[in-house]
Amino acid sequence: MKILAIESSCDETAAALVENGRQVRSSVVNTQIPEHQKYGGVVPEIASRRHIENIVPVVDAALQQADCTLAQVDAIAVTAAPGLIGALLVGTNYAKGLALAAGKPLIPVHHIRGHIAANYLAHPQLTPPFLCLVASGGHTLLVQVEDYTRFTVLGTTRDDAAGEAFDKSARAMGFPYPGGKYLDAAAHRGDPSRYKLPHPKVEGSSYDFSFSGLKTAVINLLHNAAQKGEAVAIDDLAASFQQTVCQVLTGHLERAALQLGVTAVAAAGGVCANSGLRASLEGMCARHGWGLYLPPLPLCGDNAAMIGAQAYYEYLAYQPAGMDLNAAASMDLEEAFTAPRRQPLPADWQQSPEEPQEIGKSLT
Ligand code: KG4
Ligand code: ZN
Repeated sequence: MKILAIESSCDETAAALVENGRQVRSSVVNTQIPEHQKYGGVVPEIASRRHIENIVPVVDAALQQADCTLAQVDAIAVTAAPGLIGALLVGTNYAKGLALAAGKPLIPVHHIRGHIAANYLAHPQLTPPFLCLVASGGHTLLVQVEDYTRFTVLGTTRDDAAGEAFDKSARAMGFPYPGGKYLDAAAHRGDPSRYKLPHPKVEGSSYDFSFSGLKTAVINLLHNAAQKGEAVAIDDLAASFQQTVCQVLTGHLERAALQLGVTAVAAAGGVCANSGLRASLEGMCARHGWGLYLPPLPLCGDNAAMIGAQAYYEYLAYQPAGMDLNAAASMDLEEAFTAPRRQPLPADWQQSPEEPQEIGKSLT
């Protein structure tokens, strides 16, 4: 089954052609980052306007690179939540137009479900159940992936998402937007023991996250040093910050996996590109003998291939959306687009992979 997928939830206009939820035939990503960099963050109105300009050429390029026509596509998928509402509306409305014009089923996809599904593209042998850490610019979630379309959220952030904390701390350190990758590079050169930063704790939940205290500690340290005319070793501060975030993220995942007896662990979202986090997750899984699944770097950030992967499983589980589909700025991961479940499964149902294989070791 060939799915044409569209993603426009933030500052990337993306389209991809994905077959049976597992094979990427094409993936095109047009990023607006250079334009938003001038403002130190995403400007929602500019993002919507750029999506409007870019969506047609990006979708055309994805079809062309897959050597496929719209008529040959079996369904149209789109990220319809969560994200910047003006940005989501561009992709959702364009997908509705395509589905209506070509007479194809329309599959709405939750953006975070898509991030998790990036792992299906990279690891053909990965099948649920597994435990997944999602760390992106807007979300930090610890998710039990029970099935392709059944999720239980064990923990979430009480304030800033991990990526947001990276970007705001990086900005205070003088790095351009989005600062996560610059902070990552600086951390490589730094000594994480030079500055002591608070280890964030959340009362009342062992799996929830909180990163705003850590971010504020970085900003205060820089501010106090500036007032006293003292120099700050930015590389060392970056290394301390990154080590603290990685310890928190890995620690939560480790406790949950031990408590639930899970031996297959995955991660997803832009922050999973972080070299310190990848190393820390690899170390944890090696210690316990757990299978680790990480998306390759191009599939960590926003792209449409991950949306096409998840869309396949959404199509198998749910009735397609109608022409009244609307976008939503926020949406529960567990309850996303709860259209009536299919019963029985559609005729083109095929297990993917054909024979579920044993979950392997780290395949980063
Ligand atoms: O998943 P994503 O592309 O977009 C959202 O859905 O939010 O995540 C973007 C986030 C940004 O905060 C960015 O700074 C962060 O991922 N990021 C990183 C790295 N690469 C991207 N954070 C830390 N280290 C990196 N190497
Ligand atoms: Zn994302």
